[in-house]
Amino acid sequence: MTAQIISGTEVAKAIRAELAVQVDELREKHGVVPGLATVLVGENPASVSYVTAKGKACQELGMRSLQYTLPAETSEEDLLKLVDELNHNPEVHGILVQLPLPKHVDENKVLYAIDPNKDVDGFHPVNVGRLLIGEELFPPCTPAGIQELIVRSGTPTDGAEVVVVGRSNIVGKPITAMLLQKKPGANATVTICHTRTRNLAEHTRRADILIVAAGKAKAITAEMVKPGATVIDVGVNRIGFTESGKAKLVGDVDFEAVKEVAGKITPVPGGVGPMTITMLMKNTVRAAKLRL
Ligand SMILES: NC(=O)c1ccc[n+]([C@@H]2O[C@H](COP(=O)([O-])OP(=O)(O)OC[C@H]3O[C@@H](n4cnc5c(N)ncnc54)[C@H](OP(=O)(O)O)[C@@H]3O)[C@@H](O)[C@H]2O)c1
Repeated sequence: MTAQIISGTEVAKAIRAELAVQVDELREKHGVVPGLATVLVGENPASVSYVTAKGKACQELGMRSLQYTLPAETSEEDLLKLVDELNHNPEVHGILVQLPLPKHVDENKVLYAIDPNKDVDGFHPVNVGRLLIGEELFPPCTPAGIQELIVRSGTPTDGAEVVVVGRSNIVGKPITAMLLQKKPGANATVTICHTRTRNLAEHTRRADILIVAAGKAKAITAEMVKPGATVIDVGVNRIGFTESGKAKLVGDVDFEAVKEVAGKITPVPGGVGPMTITMLMKNTVRAAKLRL
């Protein structure tokens, strides 16, 4: 049996429709327009396209988008000054500083300067700590999107064996913390694997839910997956080139082979990717509600 495809594009569309209703309600009942400030330093093409997509998503939902594009040579001091202004700007509910920052800027210093109540990316240590103790304000966007895909695809998490491949601070560690909470949509038994894990396949084959964020094309093959498992592929890898000269986008999972074994699977592109910006919008709406 071929696996059911979990479409992140469709789930994201449904969540955005729910958010649009909430944005209308905030404006009509309270005169509040949720505002997201994005700060981009330099002209890294990937960062420019992420920031553009975030601004567009805000506009589509009737939210306010304030975009700050600064030259690559902007000093750390000037950047900290801007963050401070945004912390105090009542029109701004969420602040996102697009990473990576130029080498002469201490990234952590800038991220830690963001008011935790406006930290819609969820990277401030206060919000990381809150997540761990189950009192999150803003769950980080990619893991939050993964959890939504699991829950909305009807995959039970209660008591499930979850195996996460990858231990990064932006995906692996936070999704592990989220799925082990004593809460609906969580309550799982979670194992986290990395490059020092002995016999990776032994772990992945036990997983009812397998989440892969390794950044390695075909890191997960069909033999490594339990029949019927739900497989969430977070990886984004550019391999080879298509006839038009563009790189091909693939995940970390050997999709064609694994879809013949898994019960449900996310594609790349069109899986986790579209969820990330949507969860940023969700966190910004939440920030506006929390302010009220
Ligand atoms: N779609 C989205 O919105 C989105 C968002 C974020 C990231 N991503 C993608 O997700 C992937 C992971 O990114 P990331 O930033 O979370 O991770 P990362 O910082 O690149 O780290 C990769 C992690 O995977 C582990 N790993 C790598 N190869 C492995 C292997 N063969 N077996 C077991 N573990 C392995 C590494 O172990 P060690 O710690 O031992 O080195 C590390 O913990 C990338 O492709 C990235 O582009 C997508």
